[in-house]
Amino acid sequence: CGIVGYLGTKNASEVIVDGLSKLEYRGYDSAGVAVCNDGELEIRKFKGRLAVLAEDIEKNEMKGHLGIGHTRWATHGEPSDVNSHPHFNKDKTIAVVHNGIIENYMELKEELKEDGVEFRSETDTEVIAHLVDKYYEGNLLDAVYKTVARLRGAYALGVICKDNEDELVAVRKDSPLIAGVGEGENFIASDIPALLKYTRKVYFLENGEVVHIKGNELKIYDSERNPVEKEIYDVKWDIEAASKGGYDCFMLKEINEQPEGVKNTLERRIDENGNIVLDGIHLTKEDLDNINRIYIVACGTAYHAGLLGKNALEKYLKVPVITDIASEFRYSDNFVDEHSLVILVSQSGETADTLAVLRDSKAKGAKILAITNVVGSSISREADEVFYTWAGPEIAVASTKAYTTQITSLYMIALNFALEKGTITREEYLETIEKMKELPEKIQSVLDNQDKIKETAEKIVSKEHVFFLGRGVDYSLAMEGSLKLKEVSYIHSEAFAAGELKHGTIALIEEGTPVISIATQENLFEKMVSNMQEVKARGAFVASIAQEHNRSVEKVSDEVIYIPNCDDMLVPIVAVVPMQLLAYYVSTMKGLDVDKPRNLAKSVTVE
Ligand code: G6P
Repeated sequence: CGIVGYLGTKNASEVIVDGLSKLEYRGYDSAGVAVCNDGELEIRKFKGRLAVLAEDIEKNEMKGHLGIGHTRWATHGEPSDVNSHPHFNKDKTIAVVHNGIIENYMELKEELKEDGVEFRSETDTEVIAHLVDKYYEGNLLDAVYKTVARLRGAYALGVICKDNEDELVAVRKDSPLIAGVGEGENFIASDIPALLKYTRKVYFLENGEVVHIKGNELKIYDSERNPVEKEIYDVKWDIEAASKGGYDCFMLKEINEQPEGVKNTLERRIDENGNIVLDGIHLTKEDLDNINRIYIVACGTAYHAGLLGKNALEKYLKVPVITDIASEFRYSDNFVDEHSLVILVSQSGETADTLAVLRDSKAKGAKILAITNVVGSSISREADEVFYTWAGPEIAVASTKAYTTQITSLYMIALNFALEKGTITREEYLETIEKMKELPEKIQSVLDNQDKIKETAEKIVSKEHVFFLGRGVDYSLAMEGSLKLKEVSYIHSEAFAAGELKHGTIALIEEGTPVISIATQENLFEKMVSNMQEVKARGAFVASIAQEHNRSVEKVSDEVIYIPNCDDMLVPIVAVVPMQLLAYYVSTMKGLDVDKPRNLAKSVTVE
């Protein structure tokens, strides 16, 4: 979910709806606004996209200079008007927006019901509105402090009250929240893009901190109500960077930004001697010698990047690496201890399961290294070591440039650690960096040659199932290709280790079944060709992705998408691009909303 709050001289609902429009990637199954005007609270909220709310407000203006708004991704209670935020108390004197989950809401709900409160919605958030009401005795800040003392779970809250037209209170615990400072106006929001049109001056809030906006003033207090002096952060990036920049959707824009993203992440960190400088990482040789196991933990696309990171770290650093999904890892009997390095990969830096693994592992004494795209995100702030993927904001739900920059980052880290530890030679190190520098150009060449990809998209657009096959590195890549296709095109797709196919899944191959076969690895090429023959013999339509020099792939393929020749280790950073484009084309051919696939959210801040 995303929240925005405003107090100033402008029309609050306009500022809030505009801000929410920049946060739709956080969830978009319903949206709502509450404003305070003439001693009354006016609340409008609707199931569906933000546009539904925006149209309603356009038809019938909402006046007032104080307000809060919300764009929702349902956790408790289905998307509906009544479950949408803001939620309010019995007499509609207090309104609340919330991002997160209140774990003890059932218990609180029972207690409030005994007090005679009638609940309208199925949400956990509604209890907060009634609790603030219960504790409100003329001082909103007091009431919010008393309320949060009762809450367990994660929350970023914005609260307003009809009695106080010049006051907004917000709190943060385990869900993202920033405060923005403008000229005679102040803001709260879940993320920076919501505020960029109005201000570049923001505060990142820590857990337990409370923002009190009163009149022109914005104050921050800690959980004990002591005033907090914080440094104001000056946002450098341009609002243009967060808008579509000429492309028909963010996903396509972000696919096209990959040469630049990889270049930024890599080249801006190469010093005059050709060495990579791992800014933000301070592990010494002694620290590295002390590490006997590495865990890479993440969700979704970031997890797929982690699978490739494992290859690089094992190859160069010669330390066993386990890559796992955060929601599984956190509840497993893992062996994390003070000799472990735990690498968390997260575009947003806010994914709840990944953050939980960070905290557990930290408590077990492990060294924590985060790879994230978002400066100031929870994961970046709680990790010991942080490496930023300088990909720029990623808005499309389906991750693209974050993935390629995450792999780049993992490879850079592997190379530097290995050099430090002495497990690779300086020649090999420098040679690999030289090859990495060629990656942006190679990605660009894929972007410049899309005909075959489009043709392949036409062949699969009307199919119900697609299979992705690969071995080794190509298997990890197949998983990402398959995820991209299914999330934006709604075609059922599966990735398989090509050699495993004959142990069951080959039963699904019939006349015309599309199989995307990734055959980029030199040492596995012959094996891969055999597997392609197996599916082709059973009638599959085989589209392959191969390096330019491997023309023999044509014998076992109906279509071949060639990518420039690359080092086997580095090839995923290039080979994923045709699969991202394939997913994009199929999605647009089907007339779907590429950037906002149904049921998905960009940033999953709940477990
Ligand atoms: C969501 C997004 C995915 C993303 C995953 C992990 O499910 O839809 O695209 O890969 O979260 O997100 P993170 O921000 O931690 O990389």
